[in-house]
Amino acid sequence: MTGKIGTVGIIGAGQMGGGIAHVAAQAGYKVRLYDISADKIESGLATINGNMARQVSSGKMDEEARKAALANITSTPVLEDLAGVDLVIEAATEDETVKRKIFAQLCPILNPEALLATNTSSISITRLAAQTDRPERFIGIHFMNPVPVMKLVELVRGIATEDTTFETAKHFVASLDKTITVAEDFPAFIVNRILLPMINEAIYTLYEGVGSVEAIDTAMKLGANHPMGPLQLADFIGLDTCLSIMQVLHDGLSDTKYRPCPLLVKYVEAGWLGRKSGRGFYDYRGEHPVPTR
Ligand SMILES: NC(=O)c1ccc[n+]([C@@H]2O[C@H](COP(=O)([O-])OP(=O)(O)OC[C@H]3O[C@@H](n4cnc5c(N)ncnc54)[C@H](O)[C@@H]3O)[C@@H](O)[C@H]2O)c1
Repeated sequence: MTGKIGTVGIIGAGQMGGGIAHVAAQAGYKVRLYDISADKIESGLATINGNMARQVSSGKMDEEARKAALANITSTPVLEDLAGVDLVIEAATEDETVKRKIFAQLCPILNPEALLATNTSSISITRLAAQTDRPERFIGIHFMNPVPVMKLVELVRGIATEDTTFETAKHFVASLDKTITVAEDFPAFIVNRILLPMINEAIYTLYEGVGSVEAIDTAMKLGANHPMGPLQLADFIGLDTCLSIMQVLHDGLSDTKYRPCPLLVKYVEAGWLGRKSGRGFYDYRGEHPVPTR
């Protein structure tokens, strides 16, 4: 069914699910956005609205396109409403148990021909696919954050992914005006295999008192020409997601160099998850972000 995607179901209306809904709707796909949390659906739709309004005011989108894109999105707190979609992109919390449960509930609802994709940052595509009734029609489509801005999408085949699934996914991603890179199915793929150990090392640098939050971020911005400091980036990704990725690397590659920094664990245990919860390595609750260390 190469190229026959018309309706896309998205699971998870958080940072990534909302962003994927935004770009898919903008490209003309009918989007059904599902989340278990009605609050997350509401805040996800508000973010999409705000981001599209910003695109209009900066001249990147016209008002008619904004209205058409918004009209392409429907939201639902009922999983059964995804019946009939051609492709589902799962973008729920980075937790293998959560994702497995979603696919187990979802598969009997879907048309047998429908494709399944996961936006996981790190979890094995082969392992997730093996739990479903369609490993040959399962693929990793890994968008970057924020989705409307970032050009790259990693495509990751599981061991059983068929060529037609890969070609359809490639077509779909290209139609969103994104650039594809293909990664093999190993823990955290390419981008996060390289990026997350650097972020984790920045957190160790903070933990060991080598520098403050500000010193570390300034050092990497001005000293390594990174557009954003690693701790600011960790807040942007979400500290729970960072921790999950480090755990997947640590477990999957059995190498102590991937040990998650205890300070990262502490922040997550405190519920200080970064921008999305209002506080992480910076406190975002005031007018300007203030370092928390
Ligand atoms: N944050 C990033 O920078 C980034 C980048 C690329 C990929 N990802 C991946 O995208 C996925 C989502 O990350 P995010 O940053 O959007 O997280 P998030 O915390 O912003 O959103 C996760 C959403 O999943 C929902 N959810 C949880 N359990 C669910 C269930 N059973 N059914 C439906 N919805 C459920 C939550 O209510 C929440 O709205 C993860 O797999 C993550 O690894 C994240």
